[in-house]
Formats: sequence, structure tokens, C-alpha cells
Amino acid sequence: MTHARQPSIQVVAHRGASEDAPEHTLAAYKKAIEDGADALECDVRLTADGHLVCVHDRRVNRTSNGRGAVSALELADLATLDFGSWRETMENTGSEESPDWKDRSLTSVLTLERLLELVADTDRRIELAIETKHPTRWAGQVEERLLHMLARFGLDGPAPDESPVRIMSFSARSLHRIADAAPQLPTVYLMQFVSPRLRDGRLPAGARIAGPGIRIVRNQPGYVERLHRAGHRVHVWTVNEPEDVELCASLGVEAIITNRPKQVLSQLGRL
Ligand code: G3P
Ligand code: CA
Repeated sequence: MTHARQPSIQVVAHRGASEDAPEHTLAAYKKAIEDGADALECDVRLTADGHLVCVHDRRVNRTSNGRGAVSALELADLATLDFGSWRETMENTGSEESPDWKDRSLTSVLTLERLLELVADTDRRIELAIETKHPTRWAGQVEERLLHMLARFGLDGPAPDESPVRIMSFSARSLHRIADAAPQLPTVYLMQFVSPRLRDGRLPAGARIAGPGIRIVRNQPGYVERLHRAGHRVHVWTVNEPEDVELCASLGVEAIITNRPKQVLSQLGRL
């Protein structure tokens, strides 16, 4: 069975509009929504006291003024940190006006709960692609708390084709846990390379959508067709260069995950 192609490619803001604002902050997600992104990508990790926060790295060192592993810090510790100023020291924005992300209320640690509130308060449909980061360490707790949080927002129930939320992971085990506990939630298997047993387009049990990195698509464009033939939608990350956007569009992928949602929407003729 081949998957029916969508009329347009979904544009997903990777870590928010993370080229223009510090990744995984409210500032980055608000900017992505303003820019017209169809969906938001975020990574989730558990704090020492069991809160899900949107942070990519194991440690907060790169993206905040603090130090240490997210898993060793409590939410109250993370709340004292500034997740915006690392960008100020990296770049001159070229504008006389301060960008929104210099507003500290938009650059403190972002909980998944706050991100879900932002999406719920937006007056158009915004989808969410939530990635479980290193979930094996927590033996199911990340998935359990994630499903609990989605249920609180009424996001665990819709039929798979209508769900505004999908769960992504490099861990097949994590997706398996999600598929077992919430079979109605779409799952995306992220790949940095294609393992030999998956070359024919199959995905591990529990995974429904394929999430190959752009390098796979550049080097093995025929793989996208094999995934489609096997009945899987294809969501490619992280697609920032115009020639890669063009390649993905020509291959009929269903979603592009990008740090530059505005530029990609413009290239696709949607702005
Ligand atoms: O959207 C998938 C992509 O985010 C996976 O890589 O390292 O950016 O989380 P990473
Ligand atoms: Ca991610």
C-alpha cells in the first residue's frame, strides 16, 4: 500500500524558530507560530523531581548560564537559569531594537506543560512533534509522564490521522512503550543512518512514521520511495538549506523539520 501524498509539506519548527531565537524557549516557539509554522518540534527530558522540560542536551551548559545535567537538577533550580543570553554572546542581531528573546520572561526554562498551554491558546491548529530524549535511562517514566501530561490537555485521544501530537524518538523501545500504552498516538522513528535490517523500508515495531536525517535523504534518495511503498509517511530533519528543501519536496516527503520555518514556507510558496 502506498501512502496518499499530502497536497503540501508540513513545515515543523525545530526547537522552535531556533535560527532566530534561542532554542526551546517560549520566544522561539512564539516566533515559529508567528512565522506560520504548521508544527513545533521539541525534545523532552525529566528533571530530578520528575518534571518534563524542553531541553535538547543532557546538560544545561550549552544553552543556559547554568551547569549540570537536567536529570540532576530540580525544576526550581532550572527556573533560576537564563536560557537566552548564550545567544546574545554568540551573535549581533544587526538590529537597533532588542529582539523579543531578550525579554527574560520568554527565555526561562520551558516546561512541556507551558508549551502545551501556548499551543492550546493559539487560534489555529498547531501540531506538536515531541521527542523523548534518552528515555531508556528512566525505564518508562518519560513516556508515562508524557502520556499523563497529554491526557491532561485532552491530546491523547483523537484518531491517529487527526492527532495534533506525535511522539518521536531514536529509541525504538521508547516508541514501543508509547504504542503499547497509547496506540492512537502517531510515532516517528528517528534515524541517523539506516540499519541493514530496515533498508527495505520497514520500521521497528511500534513506529509508524519514518524520521530520516537529511544526510540519509541526500545520499539515498531511493530510500524515501521505499518508505512510502512500505506505507510510511516520511518526516525529514533538519532541513535548512534551500537545495535540501527542494530535494525533499521533489521526493514528496510529508514533513520538513527546520530551524528556519519562515524561509522554508517562503520557498514553498506559502508566504
Ligand atoms: O526532529 C528530529 C531531530 O530533532 C533529531 O535530532 O539532535 O536535533 O534532537 P536532534
Ligand atoms: Ca529533537
